Amino acid sequence: MTLQTQQMMKAAHIRYPGGPEVIEIKEFYTPTPDPDEVLVRIHAAGVNRPDLLQRLGKYPPPPGVTDIPGLEIAGEIVGTGEKVCALISGGGYAEYAVVPKGQYLPIPHGLTAIEAAALPEAVFTVWNNVFVRGALKPGETLLVHGGSSGIGTTAIQMAKAHGAKVIVTAGSDEKCAACLKLGANQAVNYKTQDFSKVLSGIDVVLDMVGGNYVGKNIEVLRDGGRHVSIASMGGTKAEIDIRTIMQKRLVLTGSTLRNRPVAEKTALAQGIRETVWPWIETGKVKPAIFKTFPLDQVAKAHEALEKGDHIGKIVLIP
Ligand SMILES: NC(=O)c1ccc[n+]([C@@H]2O[C@H](COP(=O)([O-])OP(=O)(O)OC[C@H]3O[C@@H](n4cnc5c(N)ncnc54)[C@H](OP(=O)(O)O)[C@@H]3O)[C@@H](O)[C@H]2O)c1
Repeated sequence: MTLQTQQMMKAAHIRYPGGPEVIEIKEFYTPTPDPDEVLVRIHAAGVNRPDLLQRLGKYPPPPGVTDIPGLEIAGEIVGTGEKVCALISGGGYAEYAVVPKGQYLPIPHGLTAIEAAALPEAVFTVWNNVFVRGALKPGETLLVHGGSSGIGTTAIQMAKAHGAKVIVTAGSDEKCAACLKLGANQAVNYKTQDFSKVLSGIDVVLDMVGGNYVGKNIEVLRDGGRHVSIASMGGTKAEIDIRTIMQKRLVLTGSTLRNRPVAEKTALAQGIRETVWPWIETGKVKPAIFKTFPLDQVAKAHEALEKGDHIGKIVLIP
């Protein structure tokens, strides 16, 4: 990505690793798109948990990617005015960002830019992990940990639209109720119940906790079940019984998104456009927006996500 000297824009800058107070808004050069990219004027940008890790210095941008945080945006392509939302590897907390041509999709009919900005990171992650890697089939049962998260609220709706049964875990009765309202068939408050004691017969687990959840997930999976890891908020190490994997013929898999080549993200975008966009346009999947903040209150947005009371997504407006 090259920069042009004339035009400036406002964007977020992480001064050094630390708390929300280390993010400031400052002037940057507006990026110039390469021939295989477009420049998007950003109307809204999603805030995701990986952004908190980047701020803490634990999730640096891939080589060659701007260190402006922000993994998803919605806005209009400069020059054509086309309204799009896009998955990006960085640069979303800004007025403009460059986007590889394979990584944007039209804003679904009927959605605002704020709603559209809340889609890419969660939809790509759920599509990639639950549908491609986890191969969830209609009629099967999906267990989603962190059901009220940005990822979780999307996973519930996409799996239901696909004709699957969805069970979630979440950390409060209020969060459990919100998940049921979004279509989950069952919600377990993990603070008052051990999910592994009350659940069984799960076909696919979408796990963002790791640690001691992995062994419990393996217990509740049925024969031929798939265990998909997308994060390890509860620890990166797990002790598991290898015999259970053999006896139940389980598949343990997982993936990350940000570091994957553009060609792989483009392939995911095509599948999403064919299958998920119709669900969104017919109202079966709707982004759950918790709160919006102006870009210059990005520190407050991070505080809110860190606090963890949110249900659904937090979105910044430049
Ligand atoms: N691999 C990938 O491709 C990929 C892509 C995007 C995001 N992710 C990961 O997916 C996870 C969800 O992302 P998000 O943006 O949707 O985050 P988010 O909205 O902040 O959600 C995190 C959720 O996890 C729950 N949780 C369970 N155990 C937790 C723990 N030990 N510490 C903190 N929270 C815990 C929280 O609520 P309760 O505990 O109250 O239920 C909360 O709902 C993050 O870990 C993120 O890094 C992975």
